[in-house]
Amino acid sequence: MERVAWPLHGIRLRTADLDLTVMTEADLPTLCSLLPDDLELNPHATTYAGLDGAANRRAVLSQGYWRALGMWSPDDWALPFVVRADGDVVGAQWLEGPDWRADRIVDSSSWLVATARGRGLGTQMRAAVLALAFGPLRATAAISSAVVGNAASLGVSRALGYRDTRRSVLEHSGETLQHVRLERAAWEAAGRAREVGIDGVRPALPLFGLDPVEGPQP
Ligand SMILES: CC(C)(COP(=O)(O)OP(=O)(O)OC[C@H]1O[C@@H](n2cnc3c(N)ncnc32)[C@H](O)[C@@H]1OP(=O)(O)O)[C@@H](O)C(=O)NCCC(=O)NCCS
Repeated sequence: MERVAWPLHGIRLRTADLDLTVMTEADLPTLCSLLPDDLELNPHATTYAGLDGAANRRAVLSQGYWRALGMWSPDDWALPFVVRADGDVVGAQWLEGPDWRADRIVDSSSWLVATARGRGLGTQMRAAVLALAFGPLRATAAISSAVVGNAASLGVSRALGYRDTRRSVLEHSGETLQHVRLERAAWEAAGRAREVGIDGVRPALPLFGLDPVEGPQP
């Protein structure tokens, strides 16, 4: 395996059409240049009065990356992937374990550039991180949420077997959020892990509070 200074950066996921690598500082300029206008970013993130809207969105993306790796702990982690198709960056996929050692439940979020949407790539990239979560990371369940009008995001969840759980109202916008959940048994029954290649996880397992010598891991 290629030597990496920080074990997370050795993780690599592959699907039929996509290659997912853990985001690095060097990916930020490209991701900032591709960030879609219709993507809702963290409404609680810091914004700067002296920056215009687009520059503030780039700041939110960049600080989100630094926060994720800078604040990493086995109890509360967020793993950002950059997604490439035929070598070109087409989006980003996040996998998160906000209370990981207590419940082993993962959450996720993602975006694609407009030209890459509606061709099944969103489903492939979510499946890639679910294969990581339910495989070597041994998650018990995956949750997700999207505003009720976001048919593509909820479509990805339904295509992968998530079930609706509850609805809530977003405080900052008043929009209704649909929450969904995928149990480990449903993921395994669907057999989609076979569509995903996973490399380089073993050296990173201690960062998830897992023992690298226990069990069959890639
Ligand atoms: C959400 C997103 C990543 C989904 O990726 P995608 O590649 O467009 O989705 P897919 O092509 O894999 O489609 C997944 C399912 O949703 C359905 N779907 C996709 N777009 C749809 C749309 N606009 N309306 C209705 N259904 C849609 C597909 O038919 C598919 O269902 P199927 O497997 O039963 O046919 C992408 O659309 C995106 O970047 N959206 C903007 C950012 C965003 O909203 N991110 C989510 C917030 S966390």
